[in-house]
Amino acid sequence: MPQITFIEPSGNPVPLDVPEGWSLMQAASANGVDGLLGECGGSCACATCHCYVDDRLMSLLPPPQDNELGMLENVAAERRPNSRLACQIKASAALEGATVTLPECQE
Ligand code: FES
Repeated sequence: MPQITFIEPSGNPVPLDVPEGWSLMQAASANGVDGLLGECGGSCACATCHCYVDDRLMSLLPPPQDNELGMLENVAAERRPNSRLACQIKASAALEGATVTLPECQE
């Protein structure tokens, strides 16, 4: 179970042991992490699970699919090169030690 640290908008770090196969949105929501809404429940239809991934995670992840790229055009906070949707990132052992930063706003 990889440990992934979520940085809340306040700067507070929240380390979570995320079951493999869970999305990062699921993990953050289930643990009350501030700064992520996940209004569509993870079906890549709301863009309220916007996050910024660290450099290593960015190099590990496959590039966003077309539907994720489309939703990333609708994020409320600044879109950056490392912007991703947390519902589209599945936890795996390779993600151990990753850091995901949550933006100031999601809508
Ligand atoms: S939870 Fe809606 S796009 Fe990720």
